[in-house]
Amino acid sequence: MAEKTPAMAKGVKGKIYDAGLFIPNDYFCRANNAEIFPRNAPLEIDLGCGDGAFLIAMAKKFPEHNFLGVERLLGRVRKVARDICQAGLTNAKVLRLESQYTVEWLLEKHSVTRLHLLCPDPWPKAKHHERRLVQHDFLQALWDLLENNGEFLFKTDHDEYYEWVCEEVTKFAQFTEVPWNENDFFYPKTDFQLLWESQGKRLQSLRCVKQVNHA
Ligand SMILES: C[S@@+](CC[C@H](N)C(=O)[O-])C[C@H]1O[C@@H](n2cnc3c(N)ncnc32)[C@H](O)[C@@H]1O
Repeated sequence: MAEKTPAMAKGVKGKIYDAGLFIPNDYFCRANNAEIFPRNAPLEIDLGCGDGAFLIAMAKKFPEHNFLGVERLLGRVRKVARDICQAGLTNAKVLRLESQYTVEWLLEKHSVTRLHLLCPDPWPKAKHHERRLVQHDFLQALWDLLENNGEFLFKTDHDEYYEWVCEEVTKFAQFTEVPWNENDFFYPKTDFQLLWESQGKRLQSLRCVKQVNHA
């Protein structure tokens, strides 16, 4: 009898788009970059990639880099996998998993060149602040995940969450903040950025570098 495929990424009309997915061999062991992409190249992560428009635009623009989107909602994961396959991209994949777990436990340490966290859920109510992703444990895991000179790029429309993230980064006291102006480099707007801007909201950005002195 023929072996069944995982058939995780059925898209329109039941087509299978598994080539756009990263399904770890073992969710309890760290996945090295070679398990995700056969080709060795700088790895960028889009955490909470949503419908994947940013991920796909970046993968098209920078074919010399690999891009992994992380997203927990199955419908979005399926759409991203479908769009990756339909665009013929071999340098982009999407992983269906929880963000903190992925950063802290799944990916290999010192393996990521840039991590993008764009328009994450701000959890505005005080009683939900503990659910905010950017806190000490996340920053420690992110620090461990990045290569030396690796970058954390963050955007939000939510002013209070922006202040929160700046404070957490300051308390963590290891990242170096660097200026980030809109035209510094190619950086497509995400679906949520376009949505917030269409409602007259303004996004704030933070760019931090992991600089380790080996002196
Ligand atoms: C507000 S949307 C932003 C999507 C995209 N980054 C953008 O800017 O268009 C947040 C996304 O993060 C995903 N998400 C939220 N919490 C997550 C978690 N803990 N792990 C993985 N994905 C998460 C949501 O499902 C959603 O797709």
